[in-house]
Amino acid sequence: MIERLARFLEDAEHAIVFTGAGVSAESGIPTFRGRGGLWERFDPQKLATPEGFWEDPMEVWSWYKLRMELIARARPNPAHVVIARLQERGLVKTIITQNIDGLHQRAGARDVVELHGNIWRVRCTGPGCRHRETLAEPPEEIPPRCPACGSLLRPDVVWFGEPLPFREWSRAVEEAERADLVLVVGTSGVVMPAGMIPYIVKRNGGVLVEINVEETGYTQMADLHIRGKAGEVLAQLGGLLGIYP
Ligand code: OAD
Ligand code: ZN
Repeated sequence: MIERLARFLEDAEHAIVFTGAGVSAESGIPTFRGRGGLWERFDPQKLATPEGFWEDPMEVWSWYKLRMELIARARPNPAHVVIARLQERGLVKTIITQNIDGLHQRAGARDVVELHGNIWRVRCTGPGCRHRETLAEPPEEIPPRCPACGSLLRPDVVWFGEPLPFREWSRAVEEAERADLVLVVGTSGVVMPAGMIPYIVKRNGGVLVEINVEETGYTQMADLHIRGKAGEVLAQLGGLLGIYP
C-alpha cells in the first residue's frame, strides 16, 4: 500500500494534501470527534460559535488559552515532517489544512492554506476596528482586549455558522481544481465546506488516497485507503522515498 502511494505521488503532476485533526493526534493534540474527542467533553455550541463567545467570553477564552498552552508544548510528528519534505521534494504542491495549530508550518511546510484560521492570531471585535495580531504566547490576562480600541479580542478562527476566510477558501478550491491527486490525512470530512475539497479533486478525475485510523465518508470513493496512524504510515512512506528519518 505504501509503495502504491509512493507510485501515485511520483506519477502525479499536481498533488495536494488535505489534513484534519488526526494528523496532529500523535503530537498529543486531541481530535474533535470519536473516542476521547473534544466534542465529547466540551460543548461546541458554547465554545465554537459567535453566540457562545458573546454569552461568555471568559469561558471561551479560558478554553482557547488551554489549547494554546497544549499546542505551544506540542511538537510536529513524523506526519507533519514527511508532508513538509514531500513538498520540499516537489512531490506535493500545496497543503490545505483544517487545523489551527500551525504544526505543518513548524515542520517546515511552506504556504499552508489554513481553512479554519490559526489559534495564534487574534482579531478585534470592535465595530469598524481592524486590529489583528499574532500572539507569541497565550495571553496572560483573559479575555484579552484590543490595544487600539479596548474592545474584546477574539481568536481568529472559524466558528460554527461562520464563513471560511475568502482568500483561503478560493485558494483551496483553485488548488483542488488543478490537482490530479489528493492525499487526505486524518479528517472525518464531516465539516463543510472544507470537507468538499477531496470531492472536487475526485470529480475532476483525480486520485484520492486516504490515511486514517478508521473509515470515513471518503473511503468508498478512495483509490487507496491506508488504515493506520498518520505518523506511522507517513514515516514508512518517507523511509521508502529516502526522505525520512
Ligand atoms: P475530527 O475530529 O472530526 O476527525 C479526526 C479524524 O482523524 C477522524 O477521522 C479519526 O479517525 C482520524 N484520526 C485520529 N487519530 C488519527 C491518527 N493518529 N492518524 C490518522 N487519522 C487519525 O477532525 P477534523 O476532521 O479535523 O472545525 O474536523 C473538522 C473540523 O471540525 C475542525 O477543523 C474543527 C472541528 O469542529 C472548526 O473548529 C471550525
Ligand atoms: Zn479594536
